[in-house]
Amino acid sequence: MEKAFTCEDRRQIESSIGERYGKAAISPEGMFGYPTGEAGLEGQGYDAGILKTLPQEILASYCGVGNPFSLGPVNKGGFVLDIGCGAGVDTVVAAVMVGPEGKAVGIDLTSAMVARAKENLKKTSLENVSFREGSAEDLQFPEAHFDAVISNGAFNLVIDKRRALREVYRVLKPNGRIMIADQVLTADPPGDIAARIRSWAG
Ligand SMILES: C[S@@+](CC[C@H](N)C(=O)[O-])C[C@H]1O[C@@H](n2cnc3c(N)ncnc32)[C@H](O)[C@@H]1O
Repeated sequence: MEKAFTCEDRRQIESSIGERYGKAAISPEGMFGYPTGEAGLEGQGYDAGILKTLPQEILASYCGVGNPFSLGPVNKGGFVLDIGCGAGVDTVVAAVMVGPEGKAVGIDLTSAMVARAKENLKKTSLENVSFREGSAEDLQFPEAHFDAVISNGAFNLVIDKRRALREVYRVLKPNGRIMIADQVLTADPPGDIAARIRSWAG
């Protein structure tokens, strides 16, 4: 299905993602059909003990659709990659869970989100977190590098999901874990390519 997209289609999709999530980087409030910010985190059952250690501005920037940690915790000392990290809330939660012996890295396609994640990080005392711009389809990490890969609300936006999943399996250590929270389309996507592109990041 993804192979039907031309380079120009891809450019348009990525540009619409950049536009929408550039706005969400300022504040996701009122932009999505589900609760974001603190209400979203509480509703998704995130660890209240961890949330209370984080500043309100960080919690407010959450726009995930679920809770990847509902599939299990990330282990102390582990090395975690957060794909489509947005403003970095899950990355920071993972960093708290793995502790100072572990590390969490967040990547996102949208430069404004990465900038917001870095600003958010400055409001914490965590030293085991980093953020960088990057695509799920081309992970700039060596193979067998991470103990866990998490993602929240990002894979639905990835153009070539098969390629992105291959990348996840490449960078995961043997017995590493992938924990994805996302939304799925239950109806058929629009048959017309132009309509599909327009609806991509809507
Ligand atoms: C709904 S937001 C979720 C952000 C964050 N995970 C959270 O829970 O707050 C989806 C994010 O996926 C990012 N994204 C979309 N396509 C991507 C791709 N191919 N690679 C990396 N990030 C991507 C967007 O820029 C956006 O920040």
